[in-house]
Amino acid sequence: MKINPSEITPERLFYLSRRQFLVGAGALTMSTLFLGGCRGKGPEPPPIGAGYCDSVQASRSTDELGDSLTPCQSVINYNNYYEFTTSKEDVADLSRNLRTSPWEIEVGGLVNKPRVYDVDDLRQKFAPEERIYRLRCVEAWSMVIPWLGFPLAKLLKEVEPTSKAKYVRFETLYDPEQMPGQKGLSFYQWPYVEGLRLDEALHDLTILATGIYGKSLLPQNGAPVRLVVPWKYGFKGIKSIVKIDLVEEMPTSLWMATASNEYGFYANVNPEVHHPRWAQSSERRIGELERRPTLLFNGYAEEVARLYQGMDLRKFF
Ligand code: MTE
Repeated sequence: MKINPSEITPERLFYLSRRQFLVGAGALTMSTLFLGGCRGKGPEPPPIGAGYCDSVQASRSTDELGDSLTPCQSVINYNNYYEFTTSKEDVADLSRNLRTSPWEIEVGGLVNKPRVYDVDDLRQKFAPEERIYRLRCVEAWSMVIPWLGFPLAKLLKEVEPTSKAKYVRFETLYDPEQMPGQKGLSFYQWPYVEGLRLDEALHDLTILATGIYGKSLLPQNGAPVRLVVPWKYGFKGIKSIVKIDLVEEMPTSLWMATASNEYGFYANVNPEVHHPRWAQSSERRIGELERRPTLLFNGYAEEVARLYQGMDLRKFF
């Protein structure tokens, strides 16, 4: 199925990209464009999170493949967070009052040392490090984001999974008073749940992120703590986590429960395995006009392919 970029990208970002293409890469920087410099309709209200992106920090301007970082303004204004809305451009506004402090995460299940962590203690205990990763959404758009976070493995090792533990199950906050989508979008089985196999969870690329661009996460990006698994589709990156359980059986994610014909447990990025509504062979990087080929495991095959040896990857979504 061929997708027109304008169908999956808000008009504003799509036309900014088009203009950028026409003007030529040298004439305007991406960040100028994303700050709204060429909208041409007179004064606009400041974007949500204005100020947040003023003094961004990242150690490099590209990832290891040479792909440019996605401008901070795009990362914080183009979001999927169904607990608030299905409209990507309204998440920032609707989530702005989410109370993210104090915040506790309960880690338990099949472990020797179950614990409740305060998120500030987590930050103290596991110093955040920068990880520049590509984020590939199943809707066939992508970004490059400088995350701040720490390997999930550090946390899991501390609670000591027992030999029975085979999977990790994650849960987002359930609070319909703060999250209108949990009331309005009753079609979904809240809370949002995701899962990983234990070896995936222990892989060094898998992080719990607490920030982007050198700053603490905003609610729209999953504050105060979210999962990032760069070789899987973005929906595995569960936001605003309150519970992590080590379990024996494969967890059923919100997406598997909602549409098992469309979403599987693994969700490894694979240009040869298509979602019924979105072809996966190519993607549109936010801020670019041309589509680019999608890479197996989102370009992280060298690091993670060994996890799936012997599995017929074409059979798994
Ligand atoms: N986590 C929760 N709790 N709720 C969601 O709706 N959306 C997922 C994922 N994590 C989602 C979620 C999807 S589909 C994507 S692509 C990423 O978050 C988007 O992350 P971003 O908004 O920070 O770019």
